[in-house]
Amino acid sequence: MNETIPQLRSYDELSLDAAFVTLAEEVRTAGSGDPETFRLHWLGRKQGRLKLISDAWLKSAPAEARKPLGIRFNQLKQQIEEALAVAAAAPSAPATKGGIDISLPGSVRAPGIPHPLLKTMNEIVAVFHHLGYSTALGPQVESDFYNFEALNFPPNHPARDTQDTLLLAGQQAKPSRDRLLMRTHTSPVQIRSMVAQAPPIRIVVPGKVHRNDAADTTHSPIFHQVEGLCVDTNITFSDLKGTLDHAMKALFGSGVKTRFFPSFFPFTEPSADVQISCIFCSGAGCRRCKHSGWIELLGCGMVDPTVFASVTAERRKLNPSDDAYNPAKITGFAFGMGVERIAMIQHGISDIGHFYSGDMRFLEQFA
Ligand code: PHE
Repeated sequence: MNETIPQLRSYDELSLDAAFVTLAEEVRTAGSGDPETFRLHWLGRKQGRLKLISDAWLKSAPAEARKPLGIRFNQLKQQIEEALAVAAAAPSAPATKGGIDISLPGSVRAPGIPHPLLKTMNEIVAVFHHLGYSTALGPQVESDFYNFEALNFPPNHPARDTQDTLLLAGQQAKPSRDRLLMRTHTSPVQIRSMVAQAPPIRIVVPGKVHRNDAADTTHSPIFHQVEGLCVDTNITFSDLKGTLDHAMKALFGSGVKTRFFPSFFPFTEPSADVQISCIFCSGAGCRRCKHSGWIELLGCGMVDPTVFASVTAERRKLNPSDDAYNPAKITGFAFGMGVERIAMIQHGISDIGHFYSGDMRFLEQFA
């Protein structure tokens, strides 16, 4: 629309013929683009080329030239409309009309994958499923009773200081055992499962846990654990050792060794920390195992009779003669492991923050 208006020097028949032949030629050669653009260009009400030219030429035309000019402009308009009709009927380029251009590369849709944490968690759970364990779950918003009291952490006991707890607001009016908090470990599901079900019990409990810890390269205030509980007649510490030794070999390779170090948890007695021989240096000593040859991986122990007593007290609210968890008849073991820590060791990841960043460059490596 920025083209200049052609000059018309004289209004005799010959000059008019020549001028309109040029315009008709312009219409003919410009007709192959988008029909709507073409229409606006020529026939637009205010800025259309036909209007601009006819305004300019008619304004300066002597009276006797107006009629032949008008006739010629009408012919030109017809030619424009014909060109428009031809353009509108012609099939457009495939790209603009939804046709398929089979020469273009296809669009690749990447399938989703499990998050690396979920993958490791599923791997751990699968090892125990193969041993006959089933999965149990529990709430993340938990009561003081299930998270602490029933697990032999009495109110105000210093053992609670080992798990810096996120408490829900507005709980002060409730009795201490009913106050809500974010569970600090998956162990409350031990209690919930035993209250709900008589022995034998073999469960694994994957889930999120929360602690008021400052985030750094190895800590996150929300992380994941897999808990295990086995209660039956004649369960001994050697069953615990054999089960966890098998699980560590299944997760890290049959070459790893395990060792059990004395430890303390209020709800197990005796308690132990399980270490595996360093998978990076095979025990020779390196930076990752702090030159000890061993990596500490999980906590475990034999279920403390005090825990069975709490469970029995709960079960007797429903059945006063319940004796299913009499420690003279049954024993059990429990264990708990951090999923992040295991995934970091499996994949040689040095910063826990990568798991939560959502950075595709990190996540894609697990596809
Ligand atoms: N719940 C403990 C923790 O979070 C781990 C544990 C589970 C220890 C079961 C012994 C038995 O530290």
